[in-house]
Amino acid sequence: MAENKSIGPRETWATRIGLILAMAGNAIGLGNFLRFPGRVALYGGGAYLIPYFIALFLLGFPIMWLEWTIGRYGGQYRAHWLGPMMYLITKKKFNHRNAKLIAGIFGGFVLSISILLNAYYTNLIGWIAFWAGMSMSGRITEVTEVSQSVGYLLKVISDPFYNLIPWAISLIITGIIVAPGISKGIERGNKIMMPLLFLFAIVLLITGFTWRTPIKPEWDSLKGFFWLWTPRYEMLGDPATWLEGAGQIFFTLSLGIAGIIPTYASYLRRDEDLTLSALTTVSLNEFAEVICGGSIAFTLGYAFGGEIPIGMVFVDKKSPFFLAMAVYPAFFGKLGTAGALLGTLWYTLLWFAGVTSAIAITNTLVEFFNDLGIKRSMGAFLSVFLMFIFGLPIVIEGSMTINYDWGPTTVYLDFTDFVVGSFLLVVVALLETVFAGAFVWKEGYEELNRGGLIKVPKWIWTILLSIIAPLYLSAMIFWLPFSTRADAIIRQTGKPLEWLGPTMATLSLVFTLVFFVTGYIATTKIIEKKYASIQV
Ligand code: ALA
Repeated sequence: MAENKSIGPRETWATRIGLILAMAGNAIGLGNFLRFPGRVALYGGGAYLIPYFIALFLLGFPIMWLEWTIGRYGGQYRAHWLGPMMYLITKKKFNHRNAKLIAGIFGGFVLSISILLNAYYTNLIGWIAFWAGMSMSGRITEVTEVSQSVGYLLKVISDPFYNLIPWAISLIITGIIVAPGISKGIERGNKIMMPLLFLFAIVLLITGFTWRTPIKPEWDSLKGFFWLWTPRYEMLGDPATWLEGAGQIFFTLSLGIAGIIPTYASYLRRDEDLTLSALTTVSLNEFAEVICGGSIAFTLGYAFGGEIPIGMVFVDKKSPFFLAMAVYPAFFGKLGTAGALLGTLWYTLLWFAGVTSAIAITNTLVEFFNDLGIKRSMGAFLSVFLMFIFGLPIVIEGSMTINYDWGPTTVYLDFTDFVVGSFLLVVVALLETVFAGAFVWKEGYEELNRGGLIKVPKWIWTILLSIIAPLYLSAMIFWLPFSTRADAIIRQTGKPLEWLGPTMATLSLVFTLVFFVTGYIATTKIIEKKYASIQV
């Protein structure tokens, strides 16, 4: 009865390779090339791989399979985003009212995470676009001192001219790729960007290992590599190492991020392989992260700057993103034409990594709007417009704080990243494992393996996904607010603007709440109108 009512997805991927590249593009992002090496540096070097891989096997693989299964299932009923997908799944067990309530909660998270996360994520992509432009035009060669490149970054954060233009261009390109649809826009875009991303990553990786001492004989790139990876096992005693290991798995695989994986999976045909495709996506992401991400930033950084980048991350606790935006441009600039070329590869790679993830997030919002009757091209425009508006506080805050010796600050950006980019992802994933796990969705395991080119063992679904993962995620949710980060973020500003940090954090929370409530209400209305009559 149930399956007879399915009508198949509204759109589908044209090719298998297109699907895999788009899914890999979705997952591979700034997290792989910058966040990951930074976490390795701070949380135990090679020893960090222990909590990281444990989280990959206990959480990463099972939840990736779950999200693909939720998505492909929803797509059969033309539910192309997480809210209605979860309604159709939970309706099997709960009554309409409760299923609608659960869907509303997911809808609230989808709306708040997609808009607010992409608002700052695309702003960061704009910073990258700035340096990509400087590299391509050769102007980066005029930047030869770190003080100069820091100066440029401060301008990018605080001067609307330097910030808005590269950001707006990146947002417009994102919208242009999303607007034509799945096979004509997103698949094509990823088919161009992802192979280039891997090519550039491999060229940079080989450069790092072969061009070992371009500046000084003692600045050997291999020293940077070994510095990063030498294990410090004592860090395993710190709960933060375990939290950061699992947190990175979520961020890098895009799990819990507004249901962007389920949305991409919803364009699969009913019997199309899911098990091997999901495994391939995770493997590509891990190759990009552990092999490429773990070998480029600090290896090249050491060859070009010796102890400088290491000190900045390790002693000054600056993020590798800061390093890439504020310090490395001067390293590239000093190398002249070769530096401009390497800079072009590095910043274009980062831009591709970021944009292919931003596209996935935007597309999910477009699907939400579609259920409100807004057509794709208009939805794409509206989505990037909203992301622009709700990213503006970053520019406003930057321009307000530039003239202070502690400025410019990025409380809005950092706090939003903490709430929607770290905490809420885990909450969404927990709710998914509870409401689409073995206790609620009895047929979920069969649905996962249908048409599969490999068979996922049952214990992965019943034990790992439905028992271990929820416990692990609950522990993470408990720990995250106690980590001191939130407090440190808010108190970035000094006198006389001490009020600004708390104000920006409050603003970010208010936006999150408003979008959550709006998303909840809209989802329940959408369910009544479009999905309540579907027999599952
Ligand atoms: N998964 C994306 C990243 O790693 C969001 O940046």
